[in-house]
Amino acid sequence: MKKLLITRSIAEPVLEQARAAFDVTLGTSAMSEEACAAALCDYDAILPTLGDAFTARAFELAGAIRCRILGNFGVGYNHIDTAAAAAHGVIVTNTPDVLTDATADIGWTLILGAARRAGEGERLVRSGQWGGFGPKSLLGTHVTGKRLGIVGMGRIGQAVARRGHFGFNMPVIYFNRSPKEVDFPARQVDTLSQLMSQADFVVVTTPGGADTTKLIDAAALAEMKPTGIFVNISRGEVVDETALIEALEQGRIAGAGLDVYENEPRVPDRLRALDNAFLLPHLGSATVETRQAMGQLALDNILAWNAGAPLLTRVN
Ligand code: DGY
Repeated sequence: MKKLLITRSIAEPVLEQARAAFDVTLGTSAMSEEACAAALCDYDAILPTLGDAFTARAFELAGAIRCRILGNFGVGYNHIDTAAAAAHGVIVTNTPDVLTDATADIGWTLILGAARRAGEGERLVRSGQWGGFGPKSLLGTHVTGKRLGIVGMGRIGQAVARRGHFGFNMPVIYFNRSPKEVDFPARQVDTLSQLMSQADFVVVTTPGGADTTKLIDAAALAEMKPTGIFVNISRGEVVDETALIEALEQGRIAGAGLDVYENEPRVPDRLRALDNAFLLPHLGSATVETRQAMGQLALDNILAWNAGAPLLTRVN
C-alpha cells in the first residue's frame, strides 16, 4: 500500500476511505519547512492544508523526493510553491467550488458584524454592563442599498456580490485584473483606486500569493470613504496589516471585518484592541458540510492519481 500523510485530521467518513486505499498517517499541527521536506521523502502522497510550509526551500531541503502529489485541503494554496513542486515532479491539486457558499457567508457575517457593531454588542452583553435599549446606543452603519465593492471577482467574489445584489439591494462594483463578465448586475471598474474610493463596503476575495501580496496598501486604504468598511476573506498577506490598523486607529475608515491575518494564528495586540474591528479566526469554510466536501475532493484527487485517472482540480 502507498503511504499517505494527512497533515491534520479531517472528516471521519473521508478518513475511512483514505484508510481503505492507503497506509495513512495523521499529522496534528502545521508543518515547518523542515517537516515538509522530511514528509516529501517519506510519503507517496500528502494531503496538506493551510500553514504547512511547502516552500521552494522545503523542496530543496528534501533531496530525493518520494511524494508525487500534494492534494491540498483548501482552495487557497499560497503555502505551497507550485512551481517548485512542478520542478520536482509533484502534482498539486486544491478544493475549489465546494467552499464558495460557506466562504461568501462568512464574508457577509463580517460585513454585517462590522457594520452593526455585533462584536461590541456581544461583548457588552457578556460584560454584564449593558444598561438597556437606548435610541443612540451602539449605532452602526446601514447596509441595505449601499455600494458593495469586490476586489477579485472569482467564484467567491461573485457569491458575495450575488448576496449583496439579490439580498441587500446593493449596487455592485468590482475590480478584477482581467475583464470579467458576470450574470447579474455589476460594474467592473478599471482601477483599484476607483473601487476603494467608490465602495461603501470593500470585500477582498482575491487569491493570496506573490501577485497579490500587499495589494491593499496604505495608499489604497487612504482612498476609502471615512464611513467605509473593509472586509478581508482572502489571505492576510493581501493587506498591509499595519496600514489597516493605523487607518482603524485613526478613524480614517469606519470599521473592518477580518477572517484572515498576515501571520496566523498571531493577531497583533493593536488589532485585537480595536472595537471597530470585527475579528474571526479563519472560519471561511468552517461548516461541517463544507469541510467534509473539501476533504472528499482533496482525497478524490489523490485517489484519481493513484488510479492513474484524470485529476479533478489540478493547479500546476
Ligand atoms: C481555503 O480553502 O483556502 C480557505 O481559506 C480555508 O477556509
